[in-house]
Amino acid sequence: MTRFGIIGGGLMGHGIAVALAQAGHHVAVFDADPATLASLDERIARALERCAMPPAGAGPVTARITAAKTLSDMVVGVDAVLEAVPERLDVKQQVLDALEAKIPAVTPVWSNTSVLSLTEVGKGMRHPQRLVGVHWWNPPYVMPLVEVAPGAETDRRFVQEACDLLTGMGRTTVRLHRDVPGFIGNRLQFALVREALHLLEQDVCDPVTIDTVMRASLGLRWSSVGPMENADFIGLDLTRDILVSLAPHLSAAVTFPALDKPLDAGHRGRASGSGLLTWPPERGEEVA
Ligand code: NAI
Repeated sequence: MTRFGIIGGGLMGHGIAVALAQAGHHVAVFDADPATLASLDERIARALERCAMPPAGAGPVTARITAAKTLSDMVVGVDAVLEAVPERLDVKQQVLDALEAKIPAVTPVWSNTSVLSLTEVGKGMRHPQRLVGVHWWNPPYVMPLVEVAPGAETDRRFVQEACDLLTGMGRTTVRLHRDVPGFIGNRLQFALVREALHLLEQDVCDPVTIDTVMRASLGLRWSSVGPMENADFIGLDLTRDILVSLAPHLSAAVTFPALDKPLDAGHRGRASGSGLLTWPPERGEEVA
């Protein structure tokens, strides 16, 4: 059993707390926002319902998670700390600075950053060798994958310890040779999103069609075969020929008008009740 501290009890922080507690670990969660902390129990209960955890099993899991009112309360007796604060370099660096003043130099520190450079996140740390990128997928108590990566300064011993612990919890743990923004999963995912937006911008089809193609083909295939194994199936010669033909047509965009237009009009996706599937508004009326 490991005693974890989690800084940031938002979407990921509370979910990771559940995943850790389900594996028998104790977790103290600290959040700077008192309202977020106050709602922790309720959100944990909802997460356990989503896992279809019977009440008899849920009780002990809930009992292993505590809300810490201060960072000082959170660090008491911790074996490892995970930060899940917003994806802003300055916020993460400030949090790590405050944390390091309160924990021994040997305590591992995990960052759940998605796309920041871990090396940058660790700049300014007194002991950057203990900082490990440990990227969970949402929701962490459902998605098996955790991606683990070292920053430039990370001591490989901390990486190995993180991998061993996560593997011991039954997680599908992958270890990257080095830290890259987006790790592996988000690099693949957002390459696909970029190409989908490119197709929209070229008026090849509408967003619903893109999702239909994905669900009825790649979504099914890639649930059992990864793109590398698939390249072996297709044949590397044909794969290369296809890539050479397609490459000049694939997107290398760094700006995304297909997102700017709905965003400028206040369509942010599910959070605002309307997004790509109902944009432009004429299409929204058709879909409705
Ligand atoms: P969130 O906004 O839901 O939660 C962040 C929490 O940190 C908030 O509750 C906020 O009050 C708290 N916070 C802010 N400043 C703080 C401070 N100085 N001290 C303590 N608490 C503080 O964000 P979310 O989505 O949970 O993301 C957290 C991290 O996880 C980010 O690095 C994000 O990139 C990463 N991540 C997010 C995923 C997602 O699907 N949302 C998936 C994988 C990683």
